[in-house]
Amino acid sequence: MISNQKIISMHNELLDSQHEELFEISIKLSLMNYRHINPKELKNVLKELLIMLNRHFSDEEDFMREIHYPYIREHTKIHRSIVLEIEEIIISEAKSIHILAEKLDQVVRDFIVNHTSKEDSKIAKYYEQQIKSKLI
Ligand SMILES: [Fe+2]
Ligand SMILES: [Fe+2]
Repeated sequence: MISNQKIISMHNELLDSQHEELFEISIKLSLMNYRHINPKELKNVLKELLIMLNRHFSDEEDFMREIHYPYIREHTKIHRSIVLEIEEIIISEAKSIHILAEKLDQVVRDFIVNHTSKEDSKIAKYYEQQIKSKLI
């Protein structure tokens, strides 16, 4: 189960609210695995997840450019691989809704939650240092 406690602050309101929304979608997806899965509902959550994810990644990439984050290329590559992974699962597991929901839950947990706490936090730390060095 995903807890909201892991959400880090990016010092950017838009990105913070998007992270929160992504976590909420992850929880929805995770909860689905504990009850009867309605295919239509799963489809809607997936749609929501992909739209939100693409929007968030593009906004986060803008933010990295704005603050001149030095590892933007590497970070953007990870974003692309997350979207690709999710799309591949949707295509390959389309026949079994239960496996699809289970695999997506895993991927969302591994990629989105870990990505935010491990990789996005590096952007936040870099930004914090930039602000500090400007104050001194
Ligand atoms: Fe992010
Ligand atoms: Fe990111």
